[in-house]
Amino acid sequence: MNSISIQNLTKTYAGGTEALKGVNLEVASGDFCALLGANGAGKTTIIGILTGLVNKTSGSVRIFDYDIDQNHSKAKKVIGVVPQEMNFNIFERVEDIVVNQAGYFGIDRTTAFAEAEKNLKQLRLWDRRHEIARNLSGGMKRRLMIARALVNKPKLLILDEPTAGVDVELRHSMWEFLGELNGQGVTILLTTHYLEEVEQLCRQAAIIKDGQIIANDRVKNLVKLVAKETYIVHVDEIRSLEKIRGYNPVVIDENTFEVELSKEERLNEFIAYLSQLGMMVTDFRPKGNRIEKLFLNILNSKTEAGIGA
Ligand SMILES: Nc1ncnc2c1ncn2[C@@H]1O[C@H](COP(=O)(O)OP(=O)(O)O)[C@@H](O)[C@H]1O
Ligand SMILES: [Mg+2]
Repeated sequence: MNSISIQNLTKTYAGGTEALKGVNLEVASGDFCALLGANGAGKTTIIGILTGLVNKTSGSVRIFDYDIDQNHSKAKKVIGVVPQEMNFNIFERVEDIVVNQAGYFGIDRTTAFAEAEKNLKQLRLWDRRHEIARNLSGGMKRRLMIARALVNKPKLLILDEPTAGVDVELRHSMWEFLGELNGQGVTILLTTHYLEEVEQLCRQAAIIKDGQIIANDRVKNLVKLVAKETYIVHVDEIRSLEKIRGYNPVVIDENTFEVELSKEERLNEFIAYLSQLGMMVTDFRPKGNRIEKLFLNILNSKTEAGIGA
């Protein structure tokens, strides 16, 4: 069964912006799917429609067995959502924010308190439960939004850029937590513009650009499209340049050049080779934005195949 089936979905906002231009997307039950795209691509609009906050212009959407037009409230009950913007009352107490959310789902208070306790403990917020949300750090506020989203034990958890502006440590602990939830059978859809996040977490990724899905595949297949990467290499001094000609280096200045390498193993190999040649590597880093490269590669491969563009 699919947890999400979207067909020919369009959305034109009141001002005339065509945010979605015929989106088709299926996410299998139990899967962990990313919706990957740049700012303004249409990710939040899709999530808004899935969660009933935005009215679609045309097309159909099913959440498990429920069509969102015919079975709106049933669809809502199986979804947990962590929105892009924090939308709780910052003057409410942490525990109340979770418990009151349960009220919207008609969950009784006793169950709600028990569930809130479990979720706040899991998300390391139990010690702060009596404080008002305003006192929490940014990372804690994010975790509170997750605790709140889980209060109805959703079968489908949707997170809109959960790690935007989050520090590395929290990002990793959040990934771990989401991985565990998914392991327990919760289907997860998250939006992101971090390719790294998709590689670490997700099995499937749909790539959205200007309101259209331009690729939808297993992550391992998508990542192959960016197997090559350009690195900027800084050395103490460029020596024996002719010996690295085979790598097609592009020299920037006397200490800096760029090379395109295919895999991490080759990067290590390359650095070892440079030191053999007497060049001390003082710094190296990937040049461009990998996600941009992925987009370009997808668009190019489509143009070559005569499909898109
Ligand atoms: N409420 C709105 N009214 C008008 N235009 C909107 C609204 N929300 C989003 N848009 C526009 O729709 C497009 C897609 O936005 P959005 O779904 O928020 O993208 P993303 O989440 O991928 O950054 C953008 O051009 C954005 O400006
Ligand atoms: Mg967004």
